[in-house]
Amino acid sequence: MKSLAIGLIGTGYMGKCHALAWNAVASVFGDVPRPRLAMLAEASQDLAERKARELGFERATGDWRKLVNDPEIDVVSITTPNAFHPEMAIAALEAGKHVWCEKPMATKLADAERMLAAAQASGKVAALGYNYIQNPAMRLIRRLLDKGQIGDVSHVRIEMDEDFMADPEELFYWKSEASSGHGALDDFGVHALSLTSVLFGDVSRVCCHMAKPYKDRPVKSGGRRPVETYDIASVLIELKNGASGLVALNRSAWGRKGRIFVQIFGSKGTIVFDQERMNEVQVYAADGARETQGFRTILIGPQHPPYDKFIPAPGHGLGFNDLKVIECRELMRRIAGEAAHLITFEDGIRIERIVDAMAKSAHEGRWMEM
Ligand SMILES: NC(=O)c1ccc[n+]([C@@H]2O[C@H](COP(=O)([O-])OP(=O)(O)OC[C@H]3O[C@@H](n4cnc5c(N)ncnc54)[C@H](O)[C@@H]3O)[C@@H](O)[C@H]2O)c1
Repeated sequence: MKSLAIGLIGTGYMGKCHALAWNAVASVFGDVPRPRLAMLAEASQDLAERKARELGFERATGDWRKLVNDPEIDVVSITTPNAFHPEMAIAALEAGKHVWCEKPMATKLADAERMLAAAQASGKVAALGYNYIQNPAMRLIRRLLDKGQIGDVSHVRIEMDEDFMADPEELFYWKSEASSGHGALDDFGVHALSLTSVLFGDVSRVCCHMAKPYKDRPVKSGGRRPVETYDIASVLIELKNGASGLVALNRSAWGRKGRIFVQIFGSKGTIVFDQERMNEVQVYAADGARETQGFRTILIGPQHPPYDKFIPAPGHGLGFNDLKVIECRELMRRIAGEAAHLITFEDGIRIERIVDAMAKSAHEGRWMEM
């Protein structure tokens, strides 16, 4: 595996997360060559230079096009707001780079389809930032389901709630603009669908309702601006495997900080996971004496790979940024031509098609077949 030269576009919340992952991946796993942090692009030259110093990148530019066209760069991490993803990803793929683009792929299905076409034409690896599927806890859940631990799954419920938009006086920013997509569906719904896709496979139909808790938000320069996106979505889903499901999303949910509450109900038991307690899986087995039945909490540790690559001791816990390190290693394996647990543009387009159907369902007030 050759050492890869990395270009990073954007250094906000996710940009830092990608930078930490590129910095850590070789040290954590020991089986991939250390990437070279070659170049970083930000919205201005000054900001790019400051962030390059902080995050350990060799060169900085205020023009992302220079980065994607730089002959030295092998992989481009795209961590800018949603509306930039298509233009940046397509330009990077056309310049012959591998791409690691944050979710959602795009804010319009037609743009996501163009991104997929560019990836297929390039022959390069194009992956999406779906870190939650990388949690060793999720991998354990998948193994438990495969082993039939809770029997036939009849119902799946996924709730994703955060409160970063709960305050009606929070300033208007890009996530309230229609150019960022539909709202909770693109922000959170795609994550929920990344989990259903790796745990259960395809969705067959959806019925969605979307809501705006606040009609406008204050603008920094004064006055208020109408909110163009829907911070709440409630979706009935049917999976191709026959199970029914409910996906409930709210980014204005006071008190919920990073909740992804997954409940999987089967004929022999139930599995529960909550991202706010991301090192635990709860399993209820409907066997043995009824009087001693109850949920059992499994604490994720070195026996749940790749936790062991981070920490040899049990009980110490992985964190959100570690999921990105795992994703980064999977991406590097895929680039090296090895099998990898990753949501590529080919897989991600199915998520985009479902989100598009959910939004249409909400606007038209009916079920949409996939
Ligand atoms: N995978 C996850 O769990 C997860 C979590 C949060 C956000 N995201 C995704 O990451 C993306 C970014 O979200 P964020 O919360 O990091 O946003 P952010 O606002 O914190 O950061 C965006 C960055 O992009 C930079 N930027 C804007 N325009 C640019 C340009 N033309 N050239 C270069 N840089 C530019 C901004 O200056 C900023 O540093 C979004 O698509 C979001 O959906 C994913």
